Amino acid sequence: MTMDAQALSLNDIIRKQNPKVLEMLSERGKNIFFPKLGILAQSAQAKGKSINATIGEAVEDDGTSMHLPEFDSLINIPVNNIFPYAPSFGKPDLRDLWKSFIYKKNPSLKDIVFSKPIATNGLTHGISMIGYLFADEDDTVVLSDLYWENYNLIFENAYNAKVDTFELFSNGGFNVDAFGKKLNEVKKDKVLILLNFPNNPSGYTPLTSEIELIVNEIKKQADAGKKVVVLIDDAYFGLVYEDKVYPESIFVKLATLHENVLAVKLDGPTKEDYVWGFRVGFISYGIKGGTPELYEALENKTAGAVRGNISNISQLSQSLLQKVYSSEGYDESKKRKYNILKSRYNILKQTFTDARYAEYFEPLPFNSGYFMCVKLNKGLEAEKVRQQLLEKYSTGVIVLGNVIRLAFSAVPQAKLPELIENLYNACKDLV
Ligand SMILES: Cc1ncc(COP(=O)(O)O)c(C=O)c1O
Repeated sequence: MTMDAQALSLNDIIRKQNPKVLEMLSERGKNIFFPKLGILAQSAQAKGKSINATIGEAVEDDGTSMHLPEFDSLINIPVNNIFPYAPSFGKPDLRDLWKSFIYKKNPSLKDIVFSKPIATNGLTHGISMIGYLFADEDDTVVLSDLYWENYNLIFENAYNAKVDTFELFSNGGFNVDAFGKKLNEVKKDKVLILLNFPNNPSGYTPLTSEIELIVNEIKKQADAGKKVVVLIDDAYFGLVYEDKVYPESIFVKLATLHENVLAVKLDGPTKEDYVWGFRVGFISYGIKGGTPELYEALENKTAGAVRGNISNISQLSQSLLQKVYSSEGYDESKKRKYNILKSRYNILKQTFTDARYAEYFEPLPFNSGYFMCVKLNKGLEAEKVRQQLLEKYSTGVIVLGNVIRLAFSAVPQAKLPELIENLYNACKDLV
């Protein structure tokens, strides 16, 4: 395949701004571009003309979006914020708003320059688009051994990259040594790292004291000349329940760490704003010395990948979010939901202080997010415990390897002690 002139031009810009970033791109990533010529360009030029016969949508005689009137009583926002396609980059105002939120939620970013977020169909799609842009067949993605299983489907099944894990915990905290060792084992001069805090499934976010050590391990790789793409999966951002936990995204530390480190922030309202089915997420880039030209080229490639995969993200979901983000009660309502989750977290922590439980299981470190995990003692098999919980105690949990994941986000506060008691009894039955 010969490379399109528009891709060549983006690659030239990237090479001039930072040649390492060009080397980080996958073959797919090097080839992709957002088509500014062709249909989209011609359509843009026709905007506002008295007759516009360019767009692949249907329009009423009065110029509004054609639609079925049965929708009218269901959705109370203007028709043009519901039915038309949204841009492949995402709705411009929502992108600006989300960027301003990133600064607000991460005060240490101060005036650090990073790209404008590109909208994705939830975080899953964002992660997949980063796989598309940066993961080649022989690349390694380094993850902690407790991780969201969907990463395998994305990196291994879709892009044939290799997922390699390090042990997440040692002595009750983040295992910095294992992380550094695993990075040293990657022999290729490029590595992808995926950091997910608060972590699914463990519910762990590194303490402020651990964050510097993690960043330092990444810097060591970059200093040694390795090109590092760090995917920061911030799905559960903001749901932190303890004081010593690092409250910002590690993106803050990585966005200006080194010319060899591209920090890729994957975030969105899915879990933070409790809109799982809306399917909206964002991708933002930061790198030391990153220029507007570099970011614009990366945004174009990312929007090109989105266009070639799913074209664009739901207009309706983006419009609803934009409306709610600008509403007066938003901050207050969000805080109330956070308080509910925090209160469940506190109850769970309290419940585990019952000394009886340690005979059969122990909690792994947790301080944030939707979940926590327990490790079983006495040679208990997690799958057998799960079956027992289902059959005898009408209780559902998730088994991952030999740990059990409990989604305290999904259990009413009053039932949390019962959940742990049921787990205890199920273990007792099986010993
Ligand atoms: C760590 C992590 N990242 C991403 C996602 C998916 O987010 P989305 O629903 O926005 O695709 C999940 C959902 O379970 C998750 O646990």
